[in-house]
Amino acid sequence: MMEETIFHLKNAIGVFDSGVGGLSVLREIRKQITNFPIIYFGDQFHVPYGPRELEEVNSLSSVITQFLISSGSRIIVVACNTASAAALYPLREKFPHIPFVGMEPAVKPAAENTHTGKVGVLATPATFHGKLYNSVVERFAKNVEIYQNTCSGLVQEIEKGNFRGIETRKILENALFPMLEQKIDAVVLGCTHYSFVIPLIKEIVGPDINVIDPAPAVARQTARILSEWNNPVDDFNDNRIFLITSGQKQKFEKFISLIAIENYEIFQANWSLDKREINIVQNKNDHP
Ligand code: DGL
Repeated sequence: MMEETIFHLKNAIGVFDSGVGGLSVLREIRKQITNFPIIYFGDQFHVPYGPRELEEVNSLSSVITQFLISSGSRIIVVACNTASAAALYPLREKFPHIPFVGMEPAVKPAAENTHTGKVGVLATPATFHGKLYNSVVERFAKNVEIYQNTCSGLVQEIEKGNFRGIETRKILENALFPMLEQKIDAVVLGCTHYSFVIPLIKEIVGPDINVIDPAPAVARQTARILSEWNNPVDDFNDNRIFLITSGQKQKFEKFISLIAIENYEIFQANWSLDKREINIVQNKNDHP
């Protein structure tokens, strides 16, 4: 018998990111999968992950995964390229009974479809340093010229809900204009935060450049795994979403009000001092 959890779930889809980025993936998952509850953890206490050491991101990801599993998740979507780069292989080893869906910059479809042979990739420093990204480039994009940019500061602007401000535009133009001069014909979004600025990116690059967001493919892969479950008991047809932040609840709430998500409840969680455990902060009015 599985332990009863604070959310009273047993077959939830657990999703996590360093902050709000993975919500772009959550939205796609909800579009494609309407009959399972989702528990989302945004580690806003530690955002951004991009400039951190892979080892640290690996250790944070492991604690978050443990928390999501003990909260009733039966599958984990690592909705963060940086956490996938740092932790996807170790997580699969550490939790062999749990299926994981990870993210990697979608260099493969970009390389297959480019006419100019030149592709731009926007991702965090940790993602570019990780084995996952480098093995994808090695396997699928050997004959393609890749132009990389880390868009320093963009994750922080998006965390603030600044999808169109002067600073956001400046960071994106600085990254994209030099790529356009090199005649790229595709931009790969290698960070889940960046999906929230797709309209601005499209405005900057124009209609002829293919902007590739891996979120729909990640949701499809998640749906494929769920369709193989032969006995989706209890939570079947439960479409609630439990959104948890390790940062400030009000700031998180404000961000959520900017994007289209329905049927959700927001919670705050705290990291223990030794960073080995996460606990939900329970207010008197919360009835999870
Ligand atoms: N959203 C994340 C990603 O996909 C991480 C951004 C960050 O925290 O630096 O890489």
